[in-house]
Amino acid sequence: LVLAHARALLTSAPDGATDYIDADAHDPDTILRIAGQTLDFGKPCALMLLGILNFVLDGAEAQSITRRLVQALAPGSILILTHPTTEPELGGDLQLEAMEFWNTNATPPVTARSSKEIAQYFDGLTLVEPELVSCSLWRPGPGTEPEVVPQLGGVALKV
Ligand SMILES: C[S@@+](CC[C@H](N)C(=O)[O-])C[C@H]1O[C@@H](n2cnc3c(N)ncnc32)[C@H](O)[C@@H]1O
Repeated sequence: LVLAHARALLTSAPDGATDYIDADAHDPDTILRIAGQTLDFGKPCALMLLGILNFVLDGAEAQSITRRLVQALAPGSILILTHPTTEPELGGDLQLEAMEFWNTNATPPVTARSSKEIAQYFDGLTLVEPELVSCSLWRPGPGTEPEVVPQLGGVALKV
């Protein structure tokens, strides 16, 4: 369904190229090879891993996928990453219950991680303010007082 919409909507225009690929996050080399047909990895790019690594259940593999993708990026690129967290003060306990329900009743299986594990995705990069925080607290609009959500997010620069 997503690919059907991509074919219809993600079309290029004279202003620039748009493309999409059908690939598995577990295979970053294929992602880089196909994306490299459209993107110039010699220039800064934005890599967005938003709610994706939570589907890579093995923690070491999730770290290695991120390292492989970031390694392909030129200096000046940014990594934008969000990931559900187990941190109890952010509601991680309830989140784990919800994930258990999901994993019993749906696919693909999903996982949450500690703040320390999620911070490691940004190793070697420079997190911009406010660094790694509950997503709702990442530069909220003026006058808003958002509640925390059990999802951590950060934006980091590759220098
Ligand atoms: C929580 S959604 C996030 C979607 C999007 N990044 C966003 O922020 O709106 C997770 C997406 O990851 C996709 N996904 C799950 N496992 C994947 C995998 N192994 N490789 C690539 N995508 C995967 C799902 O199909 C779903 O579209």
